[in-house]
Amino acid sequence: MNLNIALLAGDGIGPEVIDQAVKVCNAVASKFNHEISWKSALVGAAAIDAVGEPYPDETHAICEASDAVLFGAIGDPRFDNNPSAKVRPEQGLLKMRKALGLFANVRPTFTFPSLIDKSPLKRDRIEGTDLVIVRELTGGVYFGERGRLNEGETAFDTMTYHRFEIERIAKKGFEMALKRGKKLCCVDKANVLEASRLWRETVQRMEKDYPEVEVTYEFVDAVAMRLIQWPKGYDVIITANLFGDILTDEASVISGSMGLMPSSSLGEKIGLYEPIHGSYPQAAGKDIANPLATVLSAAMLFEDLNLAEEAEAIREVVNKSLAEGIVTEDLADGGKSYKTSEVGDWLANNL
Ligand SMILES: NC(=O)c1ccc[n+]([C@@H]2O[C@H](COP(=O)([O-])OP(=O)(O)OC[C@H]3O[C@@H](n4cnc5c(N)ncnc54)[C@H](O)[C@@H]3O)[C@@H](O)[C@H]2O)c1
Repeated sequence: MNLNIALLAGDGIGPEVIDQAVKVCNAVASKFNHEISWKSALVGAAAIDAVGEPYPDETHAICEASDAVLFGAIGDPRFDNNPSAKVRPEQGLLKMRKALGLFANVRPTFTFPSLIDKSPLKRDRIEGTDLVIVRELTGGVYFGERGRLNEGETAFDTMTYHRFEIERIAKKGFEMALKRGKKLCCVDKANVLEASRLWRETVQRMEKDYPEVEVTYEFVDAVAMRLIQWPKGYDVIITANLFGDILTDEASVISGSMGLMPSSSLGEKIGLYEPIHGSYPQAAGKDIANPLATVLSAAMLFEDLNLAEEAEAIREVVNKSLAEGIVTEDLADGGKSYKTSEVGDWLANNL
């Protein structure tokens, strides 16, 4: 199979972790007889420096012409520390999500057998966790009407949802549940919010189309508790933008390290695959960042292109590297650690 993949390395540790994912993807491609054509493009602060905007048209054209996008991270302290900057790297991320129609953020949460004791949560609570949070990404309170009244003394943000936005997220959730444990939990705040009542009503209407899926409805405050008390109770969670933003970060604690967790952002056509972490500027250029979140994001990319064996091969070699202690310093507990590039080489060689 010929694959066209857009490569958006971005800022900070982005280029370093992306390099390792490329090594791993190329090794998988040669093992399974695929041909990958990589097209690099600028995004974030790197794009602002080069052409004055964080998601240039040329980058968009490259993404649109690809089968999938592999993304590193964006963000630069020069902009973080300058609140008056008019053009910011994060604008590139929002513009890209909008332009590519990426309305669903998918974050799997699972544990790694050899790292379970690194989680601050007890082994018996988390061992065997395998859940996915599907967060609505382009609507809700982050995009609703906002402003100031009363000479700036009053502020408001509006949570607006249209039925079609809920339907398309719910459809992704139902379809995912069918391929997994056949359980879907709609997380909302329907006891208080009208927008949440529309979520519940919409998902309830769709239940009849997916008779095999067991659907539950839970309030977000209760889920914030249960998610870390008994994560094994969940399979697929669908939720609004704000709730998902908070719950996905909470869920990352279960696996133990920011450097490990992958994600995808999906729309109708192209998917974008990226680690959940940011550009970790303190580590940029030092060859110490953990590349596994990006490597596992590449596994999600293969899976979504219906190349499940390839995805599994990546996950297996990642688990093997963890079990054998071929890890970057964030996982080494002061013991022997390897450079970012050495971990990437090891993974590629062991595939
Ligand atoms: N999707 C994105 O591109 C994205 C997401 C979050 C933050 N950001 C941006 O990244 C910059 C830094 O933000 P931050 O410091 O809040 O978050 P961050 O994820 O970059 O780093 C937070 C901490 O997590 C750990 N960490 C993150 N990635 C790691 C890795 N690969 N290996 C080992 N440890 C890792 C480090 O201890 C680090 O100090 C900011 O400019 C922010 O806006 C971008």
